[in-house]
Amino acid sequence: MHVLSGIQPSGKLHLGNYFGAMLPQIELQAEHQCFYFIANYHALTSLTDPQAVDDYTMEVAMGFLAIGLDPERTVFFRQSDVPEVTELAWILGCVTPVGLLQRGHAYKDKTVQGLPANAGLLTYPVLQAADILIYRSHLVPVGQDQKQHIEMTQDIQGKFNQLYGEVLVRPEPLIRDEVAVVPGIDGRKMSKSYDNAVELFAPEKQVRKRIMSVVTDSTPVEDPKDPDACNVMALLRLIADPDERAEWEDRYRKGGMGYGEAKKRLFALFVERLGPARERYDELKANRDYVEQVLTQGGERARAAADAVMADVRQATGIRPRPA
Ligand code: TRP
Repeated sequence: MHVLSGIQPSGKLHLGNYFGAMLPQIELQAEHQCFYFIANYHALTSLTDPQAVDDYTMEVAMGFLAIGLDPERTVFFRQSDVPEVTELAWILGCVTPVGLLQRGHAYKDKTVQGLPANAGLLTYPVLQAADILIYRSHLVPVGQDQKQHIEMTQDIQGKFNQLYGEVLVRPEPLIRDEVAVVPGIDGRKMSKSYDNAVELFAPEKQVRKRIMSVVTDSTPVEDPKDPDACNVMALLRLIADPDERAEWEDRYRKGGMGYGEAKKRLFALFVERLGPARERYDELKANRDYVEQVLTQGGERARAAADAVMADVRQATGIRPRPA
């Protein structure tokens, strides 16, 4: 079974990425052939600073390797190292109704706000469909926010096969409910665009400051508190083990516990849990050649898989094979 996912290099990695996407993806590598890539073409829909595109690409690469991606097992690569994916995106675009794309959340959000949307933003889901279909992916582990994109991929795949025969494999999304939404320090979904994220690899002092500023209500220390209505507890639930989780919930309900104490524990758990990955991240930062080499080799493996599908797609659509 082929498992595939991608992550946009459009900002610093944060706890939302970690619990919502990276960790569940890493867990899948033991049992499946995974293809994980850094979606730098997609990032161009929002980033126009070339240095930022490259820096964030490296950040994602080092972040995944630091938390345990095994580049021997998993094919780990830069999207742009398989440029055939844009060729497939073109072909898929020719069977994709514009109306489907106009109903895309990301595109609608922009246009509803009256912001200018580029064509890349409109056709973003077509490139994402190509990402998925070009590796014959069966399973796509993603966060809740990507559900619509995977459904669009299914629509596009269905349309293509209906026209050209059983060429492309239908993918299924894999969404884990318990980590579907990771709250940021203000309680909204953690996202770089809301400026509410706790970064994974920021200096410890900065992380501490961020965690201590998680928004809480003004219930006095002695009063009982609702663990289900607290942003600190929401993060503790993700990072603490089940016993400790239950203990905190208990202490919330009993009262006599201040939010400051919960925040301090949250910070301590962050350091404990992320410490080893943060160390490896620093080592990788000092060893960029190794990271480059991993991505290059991953790109070669990915390209071989993509070539096989593109041969079928070209034949099905009447486009001759590329001359050798
Ligand atoms: N759109 C995804 C996100 O923003 C990134 C992505 C690009 C992706 N191509 C993909 C995810 C293919 C899964 C499969 O998170």
